[in-house]
Amino acid sequence: MSSTHKHKWRILRDAILKAAQAAKQQQEQPQEQREPQEEEGAAVDDASVRRFQSYGLVTSHRVEPGTINRIAFSGNGTVLADSADQDSDVLLGTWHRHDAPGFDSFQPLVFHLRPVVTLQDMLGFNNTGNVCIWPSEEVLVHWILSQPGVFKGLRVCEIGGGMASLAGLAVAINEQAEEVVLTDGNENSMSCIHATLAANRGAFTTENVTAQRLDWTQPAHYQHLQHRFDVVLCADCCFFDEFRPALAEVLQTITRPSGHVLLICPERRGTRSAFLQLASDRFRVEEIPSFDAELQRQHEHVLASNPKYEPDIHFPKAAKLTPLK
Ligand SMILES: C[S@@+](CC[C@H](N)C(=O)[O-])C[C@H]1O[C@@H](n2cnc3c(N)ncnc32)[C@H](O)[C@@H]1O
Repeated sequence: MSSTHKHKWRILRDAILKAAQAAKQQQEQPQEQREPQEEEGAAVDDASVRRFQSYGLVTSHRVEPGTINRIAFSGNGTVLADSADQDSDVLLGTWHRHDAPGFDSFQPLVFHLRPVVTLQDMLGFNNTGNVCIWPSEEVLVHWILSQPGVFKGLRVCEIGGGMASLAGLAVAINEQAEEVVLTDGNENSMSCIHATLAANRGAFTTENVTAQRLDWTQPAHYQHLQHRFDVVLCADCCFFDEFRPALAEVLQTITRPSGHVLLICPERRGTRSAFLQLASDRFRVEEIPSFDAELQRQHEHVLASNPKYEPDIHFPKAAKLTPLK
């Protein structure tokens, strides 16, 4: 092996060991006390630090702290049971009860992937949705809970919902929608969502809640959903330079001509504007400047109190995208 190769392997090994060590330390503490994790998830290339985690609009409590759960899946993604088996279809994670202060009806039990980064995670499908629930998702949940009835009788899909797909879950629990479909492209995220759906079935206000893997680059994953949804939810998915065209294509395909997309994400180094510019060939784009009054209050509070808070990469902005005729 050449010295250059050795050097690269050393860098990779050190990165894995550091990530594993950090994850182990994180795992040993309750979530509320954890140090911010390294990486701004989305801006992984940015090598920035996750300096701000939440506006406090949605909170999370570990169920049975200290317990690592295993969930097993059949081939079609059905959750079989909590399992002690060591086979490859078993995922390790922890159950969390989420709350939104002021909204008692929303208390889902959500399966979070255990925060251990494997080499496969580093090299495989984008893993940002398994790291945490990002502020954009949190803000979208709060907005949904604050607008009772806006999704009543509608077909709703969440795109790139990550391991929790909490916004879609909020619609399923609170909104008497006609249909709710939760999606992500990451297989581990999907396994978590399937487990979460199984755990919350009794709380849904519609029976028609499903989850499916939807990779934006795979038309076969979404062509059967053509013009199906009245509302498509999309939180913090615009920053992938290589996927913006595919994301615009998916959104246009699955949204009904009379429907719309609710898109929420930070500006993050111009990536949001880049997406909206691209999407404007297909959609009428309306900015929603005063999206959520409580978010605005929390934003001003954090801005004044947390020197590491950077609105450009943290503050979620909302837009409504209506298909062009
Ligand atoms: C920053 S995370 C946001 C997750 C969640 N919406 C949130 O805000 O917590 C971006 C999500 O996009 C998903 N994603 C990335 N590339 C994708 C693709 N090509 N197809 C489908 N999903 C993709 C990732 O799996 C991840 O869940």
